[in-house]
Amino acid sequence: MAIYQKAKGTQDFYDIDAKKMDEVCAKAAKVASTYGCKYLKTPIFEHAEVFEKNVGEESDIVSKEMYTFKDKGDRLMTLRPEGTAAVARFFIENKLYANPGLTKLYYYGPMFRYERQQAGRYREFNQFGIEFYGQSSYLLDVDIIKCAYDIVRAFNIKNVVLKINSIGDFNSRANYSKALKEYFSKYIDSMCEDCKRRLNANPMRILDCKVDANNPAIKNAPNIKDYLTEESITYFNNVLKSLDNLNIPYVVDDNLVRGLDYYTDTVFEFIIQSDDALNGLALVAGGKYANMINSMCGVDVPGIGFALGVERLKAIADQVGYKWDFINDLKPVVIMALDDESKQESMKLASILRANDIQIEIDYSSISMKSQFKLAERVNAKYIIIIGEEERNTKIYTVKNTENRTQEKVKLEDLVKYIRG
Ligand code: HAM
Repeated sequence: MAIYQKAKGTQDFYDIDAKKMDEVCAKAAKVASTYGCKYLKTPIFEHAEVFEKNVGEESDIVSKEMYTFKDKGDRLMTLRPEGTAAVARFFIENKLYANPGLTKLYYYGPMFRYERQQAGRYREFNQFGIEFYGQSSYLLDVDIIKCAYDIVRAFNIKNVVLKINSIGDFNSRANYSKALKEYFSKYIDSMCEDCKRRLNANPMRILDCKVDANNPAIKNAPNIKDYLTEESITYFNNVLKSLDNLNIPYVVDDNLVRGLDYYTDTVFEFIIQSDDALNGLALVAGGKYANMINSMCGVDVPGIGFALGVERLKAIADQVGYKWDFINDLKPVVIMALDDESKQESMKLASILRANDIQIEIDYSSISMKSQFKLAERVNAKYIIIIGEEERNTKIYTVKNTENRTQEKVKLEDLVKYIRG
């Protein structure tokens, strides 16, 4: 038997909900454009190794959550679980590193992760993201954070806390990984099978293990801040100073390491503070990744970026009472025809009014007044334009206002203005 139900962790967006999703992306894109970002659309699926290699084999995303399948040509494909690795693939494939200066890109669309379903966490979800390539400067880190901040503020959202940390450069991380390996070796027998594997492959990923999250061994593990090189410390202090300068509030969180392998130095998240189930989830997350492009193609180009959850942003915008731009107060208009010839005329009049962005509804199956009034009631029409023989000849229409129950004669050339108020 066919299952006519949406798959677990997926959502339908109908009418107003779909428009809200569109508005989140359109408004975010507008902000991104003020930072000089160009719009990029990448495919929904990529060769699996684009994500395996860059997001990291030991990350939860790659080891447990990817929708990977063999296509008919026996190639391993993955429905993108995130945008950054795919955007980097585009950057390399098109040799954009040969261009002087920065490459700044924004993208949005559906991502796929086989995650445990819970409030604000889906298997198909949408991200809006930005990536900058080409320079390493703490000012860029600050600009990318400011861009995320501007987007969040454009929706009047204030109930988020910016958490920030440095996970250090390549050398800091190498020292830290060594220290973690030594430390966890003593506790590994009490840890899950995944952590046992991570110990050798990538001990940093033990820190974001969901199974062992409450294990004291993780809580008391060495902290990255004690392994940062002088360069990383100076870099991070400059980021913080510059955030202060822009009056962007933040909290330094030593435990923020992010669950994807590609980050270096600055990492950040905007954490939701609400009194519902979204509390504590990240609305925006990102950071710097100095080595990804180098490890993919041998060209030394640093990157930095962030992605925000579109569903989460939509939900929080609703919570804080954001007034959606697309909701205008213009209600539909019903054109009522009193005879068959007038029905033809109503089609012509509809096209004139629709060209002026007015929503027109017509009863296509009846000229009965009762049926046409019912339609007006159903669609909550503010105006009913009545066309009979006289109106057809004079081009002066009878317009009923259903709200104050008045009726006026309005000339064709004045109709749009009259309806718009
Ligand atoms: P991420 O932390 O995996 O980072 O995801 C970024 C944002 O996507 C999260 O903060 C959240 O709002 C949303 N999100 C993630 N998973 C889900 C889910 N299952 N359901 C609903 N929303 C979700 C990245 O993906 C990185 N690519 C971000 C980045 C860009 N870093 C540098 N550039």
